[in-house]
Amino acid sequence: MRKKFVAGNWKMHGSHSANAELLSGILAARPFACDVAVCVPFPYLGEVAVALAGSDVRWGAQDCSAHEKGAYTGEVSAAMLSEFGCRYVIVGHSERRHYHGESDQLVADKAKAVLARGLTPIVCVGETLGQREQGTAHATVKRQLSAVIHALGHCVGEMVVAYEPVWAIGTGVTATPEQAQEMHSLIRAQLHAATGHADAMKILYGGSMKPENAGSLLAQQDIDGGLIGGAALKAADFVAICRAAG
Ligand code: PGA
Repeated sequence: MRKKFVAGNWKMHGSHSANAELLSGILAARPFACDVAVCVPFPYLGEVAVALAGSDVRWGAQDCSAHEKGAYTGEVSAAMLSEFGCRYVIVGHSERRHYHGESDQLVADKAKAVLARGLTPIVCVGETLGQREQGTAHATVKRQLSAVIHALGHCVGEMVVAYEPVWAIGTGVTATPEQAQEMHSLIRAQLHAATGHADAMKILYGGSMKPENAGSLLAQQDIDGGLIGGAALKAADFVAICRAAG
C-alpha cells in the first residue's frame, strides 16, 4: 500500500512570526501516520529548515529554475534549494502556468532540473473549467503529463504528481471524490504505460482540500495525499488533513 503524503503549499503567504506559530503547531501534533511536508516561499527556507531540523516533517520550494546556474536574474536553482535541505519542489503549479506563462516544456525542464539535484518534483497538472466543460479535461492533463514523462525518461517513477483542477484551486469548490478518482486513475494508467511500475507512485489531489472533505477524497483508491493551499496556513486545519490521511 502507498503511504499517504500531505504537502502544504504556502504560496505567497507567511512572516517570521506566522511561520513560527504554524510550524510549532504542526510539530506539536506529531507523530503523523502519513508523510508531511511544507512548501514555502524562498526567503523562508532557512528558518523553516532550522525549525524542522531533526523532525520527520520535510520542506520544499514552490518553483525553481530550469537552468543550472547563470545570468537569470531573480531565479533560484535546484542546486541552491538542495543546499537548504529541500526535499521537494513544486513545479508547474497552475498559478505559474497561468500568471507566468509556463509551458508544458518549461515545466518538464524544471522537473528534470529538480531530479538532477536529487530532489523530488511535485508536478502539478490540471484542467481549467472551460476545458472541463468542453470535454477536454483528460486530454489537457494527458498532454501536460506527457511532456514531463518524455523529459524525465527512466526517472519518471521518481516524481510525485499533483492533480489540481484549476477550477477548484482557492475557490472553495472541490472536485467530487468521484471526479478526482476518475482523473487520478487515468493519470496512473498513463504513468503505468510509461514506467511499468506506477503502483508505487504518489498522485496527490489539490484544490480546496480541507478538513471537512479530506477524508472522502483520501479514501479514493488512487488519491495518495493532498497538496494543500489555503488550509495549510492554519496548523489546526493542516494537522486535521494529515490525520485524515493517516
Ligand atoms: P487550495 O490551493 O487548497 O487553496 O485550493 C491548492 C493549491 O493551489 O496547491
